[in-house]
Amino acid sequence: MFGRDRVELKTPEQVLLMRRAGLVVADALAAARAAAVPGATTADLDAVAARVIADAGAQPSFLGYHDYPATICVSVNDEVVHGIPSARVLRPGDVVSIDCGAIVEGWHGDSALTVVLPEADPADVQLSAVTERAMWDGIAALASGAGLADRLGVVGEAVEQAVEAAAADGGPQLGIVQDYVGHGIGSAMHQPPDVLNYRTRERGIRLKPGMCLAIEPMITRGDPATDVLDDDWTVVTGDGSRAAHWEHSVALHEGGIWVLTAVDGGAAELAARGVAVAPLA
Ligand code: MF3
Ligand code: CO
Repeated sequence: MFGRDRVELKTPEQVLLMRRAGLVVADALAAARAAAVPGATTADLDAVAARVIADAGAQPSFLGYHDYPATICVSVNDEVVHGIPSARVLRPGDVVSIDCGAIVEGWHGDSALTVVLPEADPADVQLSAVTERAMWDGIAALASGAGLADRLGVVGEAVEQAVEAAAADGGPQLGIVQDYVGHGIGSAMHQPPDVLNYRTRERGIRLKPGMCLAIEPMITRGDPATDVLDDDWTVVTGDGSRAAHWEHSVALHEGGIWVLTAVDGGAAELAARGVAVAPLA
């Protein structure tokens, strides 16, 4: 069922199927993250994630999406998103963003994380930490008291504030990628609405129970402008600066918000922000 602004509104039963997909994604990402060590190839990570998804009896959402050739995206260093797994060998200090989606009974989960390999540049660790914090701040902003925030624009507001706060702390000036955004998710991986990671003059659509949203800030250590490589997929920073990407799929329902792709439903990170997570089961 679709609401007036063409956003698919899920029933609680459908959200529970998305939770199953979300937990498969969480498992696949944990396995891929554990496999991300110097000497491994990005294709090794893809194989590990593919195995977890298959063993769970789920399907990968990325494979075949607009002819995308793999189960996950692995984006290294100046690659922002949509890096294609390959024979590329990971090296000490690499910034590795891993993005994964899975389908259970037609319902999707989508999540991403960034890991900085040992011998890390502290500035890269900081980049990933700020990006993760900005994601959680954006997710927490969807909740208000015992219910939902009013408008979608709270996400971009919170993400931008988190990045500004990091800089104000004497941290580095980071860039928020604007060329790619978060999205609605449900019976397809990418649905309306777009979820911007920056402030705008508009407050955005009204948040409603049944909406499911993928919140996914992409942050750079330099200018946030991007290019696409000749493979027509890999998104890189225009200035060669390193980038991080964190993402979770979140359900909005009558009782509040539930982070479908986090094993704890988001309980720990949301509690730290004064938000009680509201699982459906
Ligand atoms: N998961 C990405 C996103 O967060 C999309 C991946 S594109 C694909 O929206 F082609 F790799 F599937
Ligand atoms: Co996504």
